Amino acid sequence: MLLYFIQGLYIVAGVLFILSLAGLSKQTTARSGNIAGMVGMALALVATIIHSLFLSAEDPANRQSVLVTGLLIVAVLVIGAAIGTPIARKVEMTQMPELIAAFHSFVGMAAVLVGFNSFAVPEGAGGAVHLVEVALGVLIGAYTFTGSVVAYLKLSAKMSSKPLTLPGRNLLNLGGFVVFLVLMVWFVLVAEHDTTLGWALIIAIAVIGFALGYHMVAAIGGGDMPVVVSMLNSYSGWAAAAAGFMLSNNLLIITGSLVGSSGAILSYIMCRAMNRSFISVILGGFGSEGGTVAASTEEQGEHREIDAAGAADMLWNARSVIITPGYGMAVAKAQYPVADLTAQLRAHGVNVRFGVHPVAGRLPGHMNVLLAEANVPYDIVLEMDEINDDFADTDVVLVIGANDTVNPAALDDPSSPIAGMPVLEVWKADNVIVFKRSMATGYAGVQNPLFFKENTQMLFGDAKQRVDDILKALG
Ligand code: TAP
Repeated sequence: MLLYFIQGLYIVAGVLFILSLAGLSKQTTARSGNIAGMVGMALALVATIIHSLFLSAEDPANRQSVLVTGLLIVAVLVIGAAIGTPIARKVEMTQMPELIAAFHSFVGMAAVLVGFNSFAVPEGAGGAVHLVEVALGVLIGAYTFTGSVVAYLKLSAKMSSKPLTLPGRNLLNLGGFVVFLVLMVWFVLVAEHDTTLGWALIIAIAVIGFALGYHMVAAIGGGDMPVVVSMLNSYSGWAAAAAGFMLSNNLLIITGSLVGSSGAILSYIMCRAMNRSFISVILGGFGSEGGTVAASTEEQGEHREIDAAGAADMLWNARSVIITPGYGMAVAKAQYPVADLTAQLRAHGVNVRFGVHPVAGRLPGHMNVLLAEANVPYDIVLEMDEINDDFADTDVVLVIGANDTVNPAALDDPSSPIAGMPVLEVWKADNVIVFKRSMATGYAGVQNPLFFKENTQMLFGDAKQRVDDILKALG
């Protein structure tokens, strides 16, 4: 009876997770999607706790251990909350990608440990299928672990974002995978009779997974990291699903598959947005496609400057304005004065819209979240594809803390590390004002010819201060 109740809770939680994903796909329903996810996760936790206590009580050998199981669960909940709460409180929005990468590494390591445990103490009948589950779970988990650690180090600038290009890189990856297949077959054939050899093989599989994860993600260049983060998100889902198979836990299988497939769809969308091949991302090899050429950081001519009063004047006399925000707006927390400026210009009759690049900022949807937080109306926030044709009919473009996502070299210079990536074609407008603190490069480390164009003027300083100055000048 209790087992039916637990399975029922799992199904409800699974449905809530699906509703959560559906809700998160649109800005207007994102809040309710989030709530559905949180309720689903709370139900899943309750069901898991009841399940563990129930299993302890069921096993006659364990009859006294219900209390111990309960205490252990409370202990891990307290430890997890004690670590997670302060991190969640103090993390800045701009540090989210590295935090997500770090969390993915935990999922990967959990799958490896579940795999080892499941080999030592198999749930159910065991057999060849179970051994294949263990081998796959350990490989995917180990790959996700080191891949995510490298992604964390690169995103937090603790490791160079330059791609690691070992000779015969793709052959090494292919070789690693073939060795894995051989080890897996060997493991399935011998592990049940020869436990010692079985352990040696499963540990070797883990080592191959760790090496592949490190090598494949280290090979990705800086500007291509967004796709890698969402790909690792997908892998962490498959690692969780593999753990679900090993533990015969339906909810883990459902949740893992949801994360795995939604992460894969997001990666696909991001690959298309960045004009990269999805297949070559999966194979960890796309970083070298144009990413290994030394980036030009040299200034390319004279730049012009404008002050806040001049910018205010230009905006007040404009009919149409497009704002293209980027990572710098997030760092400066400029979204609030930007929202005020938008409201003031719209009240004056100026047509103000936003153009958001799919990889602007440091996480998918970063700019949309910031603008929504500052109450910018959704209907004036447009995707790159929706707005790119309109720049030519625009009086003023404000590039606020964006750089790579408005770099014409992506279209004009085949040797650029960001060659082929579609960008917001801001330079087609009559006037472009770029808000940034210096002539420094963006995330991909490449100079931006936009800054030296005739119709571009630089407004140097912290983006929030400069937008505040414009608001003051407007009175
Ligand atoms: P970036 O190319 O990173 O450029 C941001 C610019 O903001 C910098 O040039 C910087 O110039 C300026 N800035 C920094 N702090 C500022 C402040 N307080 N006030 C004003 N300006 C400030 O930005 P982007 O156009 O948004 O492009 C995003 C890049 O990140 C892409 O290369 C993308 O591939 C990569 N990336 C994206 C993601 C996701 S999922 N979106 C994840 C990882 C990496 P100064 O230093 O001169 O001020």
